Amino acid sequence: MLIYANGIWVDAEQAMVPFNDQGFLYGDSLFETIRINQGRPFRLEKHLERMHSGMNTIHMQGESLLTSIPSILKAFIIKNMVTDALLRVMITRGISRGSPWIAESEPSIYMSARRITKTSSEPVKVIFVKEKNYPILRFHPAIKSGNYLGNMLAKKDAEAAGAFEPVFVNRDGYITECAIRNIFFIKDDVLLTPAVELGVLPGVIRDTIMELARQKGLKVREALIFQDDVMAMDEAFISSTGVGVLPVTWEGFESDYQHSRVLSMDLNKLFESGESYGT
Ligand SMILES: Cc1ncc(COP(=O)(O)O)c(C=O)c1O
Repeated sequence: MLIYANGIWVDAEQAMVPFNDQGFLYGDSLFETIRINQGRPFRLEKHLERMHSGMNTIHMQGESLLTSIPSILKAFIIKNMVTDALLRVMITRGISRGSPWIAESEPSIYMSARRITKTSSEPVKVIFVKEKNYPILRFHPAIKSGNYLGNMLAKKDAEAAGAFEPVFVNRDGYITECAIRNIFFIKDDVLLTPAVELGVLPGVIRDTIMELARQKGLKVREALIFQDDVMAMDEAFISSTGVGVLPVTWEGFESDYQHSRVLSMDLNKLFESGESYGT
């Protein structure tokens, strides 16, 4: 596979990041994972908007870099003959030549891709973990920075405990999101998901699911959801660019996942159609 490394197309094994790149040194970077189906990016505009918002939040210059993404992405798809993949775009602050907090070069851009791994549509287990035990970056609006240490540690701990994903509970007892996915609940035909005010990542798939749910006549609410309330929910699922909709369960929770299964099917149909839905 050819990687795009800041202006150079190079074999993945040979791709290099300069040692003094701020992204490498300090996690001073942003990234997006974009779903490609049938050679077409899913909701590219939404990903670019989120990256733009992240750049504003961390005061990273580079409007022209953002506008160059669609054409680099197109070239990436053609050069690597990509049909279905998870494409990763990464922007780092660039090379630091003086003080580490002041980058003296332009931001750098990288693009790579990996296979979409098929997950089972059967419910997977989640565990609830306290956010205070993990260093999670929470800006509002949330940014997708290269700083995922807390997310990765929680994910590892969840997997070691036999779960697929951790679900974070913040200091006030509210559910926020998973390590790399958003979470949804359904109660009395109302779709509930933690509000972005909590610093939750506004997932591209989260947005799409809310639209699909409204089209199905479900009420949709971005809410404050207490961990204590989850046992009374009718259904629960997680969402991301990689897995789409994935029903979840935990100790003592049972559901028929009636709405979740329909939403999952509707989303998969959108993916399979190769539509750049919403862009
Ligand atoms: C913390 C977090 N929340 C939610 C998501 C889901 O976002 P999306 O639907 O854009 O894939 C991700 C994806 O990487 C994530 O890292």
